[in-house]
Amino acid sequence: MPEVHETIAGFRAALELAREDERGIGFVPTMGYLHEGHASLMRQASAENETAVASIFVNPLQFAANEDLGAYPRDLERDLALADECGVAHVFTPSVAEMYPVPVLTTVSVGGVTERFEGASRPEHFAGVATVVAKLFSIAGPCRAYFGDKDFQQLAVVRRMVADLSMPVDVVGCPIVREPDGLAMSSRNVYLTPAQRAAAPALHRGLQAAAAAAADGERNVDRVRAALADAVAAEPEATLDYAELVDALTLEPATVVGGTEQRLLVAARFGTTRLLDNLAVDLP
Ligand code: PAF
Repeated sequence: MPEVHETIAGFRAALELAREDERGIGFVPTMGYLHEGHASLMRQASAENETAVASIFVNPLQFAANEDLGAYPRDLERDLALADECGVAHVFTPSVAEMYPVPVLTTVSVGGVTERFEGASRPEHFAGVATVVAKLFSIAGPCRAYFGDKDFQQLAVVRRMVADLSMPVDVVGCPIVREPDGLAMSSRNVYLTPAQRAAAPALHRGLQAAAAAAADGERNVDRVRAALADAVAAEPEATLDYAELVDALTLEPATVVGGTEQRLLVAARFGTTRLLDNLAVDLP
């Protein structure tokens, strides 16, 4: 079983000891309730580094007042067993009092990439994410940090923060892990009713349809976007929030198809559960 550290000092000391080895530390920050998507990050961190470590912390700063922080699913015992299977040596499980013993007056806010999409519907969310990730990086020290491509905007925010603040962290984006029917794995999938769960792969179908249109030569952004939006709109259980083709680094909406590295982004509500997905559009 991994060594569990509830204090900042304990986790920091364990990593300092581990850092003496040249192959370094692979760090997977999480909010727990781990699934196969997290497992793939932990396995990659174990394979690419001498020591793999993870954190499990449900960060109150990234939840809005209307989002039920208390209802966030938790299962520490199962999480530790999965971390163990994936070769994780140390898990940081701080309490809220350990992370934020006094009200937070210092926050990290990343402009530009946070303005649209998730940032538009959850205005405080990315400042909460950037602040906790900056704090976790400050505790962990130099490392490679593994994040899923699934939360593509979060990954863009973390990359930008690390670059802007010259943090000694190498951010590694890892491929989305999908259920056999294409649904991207997410801790939120447990909230779906059977009918919503059956409808949810429409997001992946839409992404594939739009990527196929681009690969077949469609160069009109509106038509590529429509291929994605229409596939989601055709599903009565889904309410589309956004469907967009963006530059993969800046997340600015594309005006032409191709030319730079691009990503299709989609979000939709299934009842009260909001799901996200995305797909690379790789054209010459
Ligand atoms: O993706 C998550 O689980 C969280 O947003 C993160 C990066 C662990 C920060 O709390």
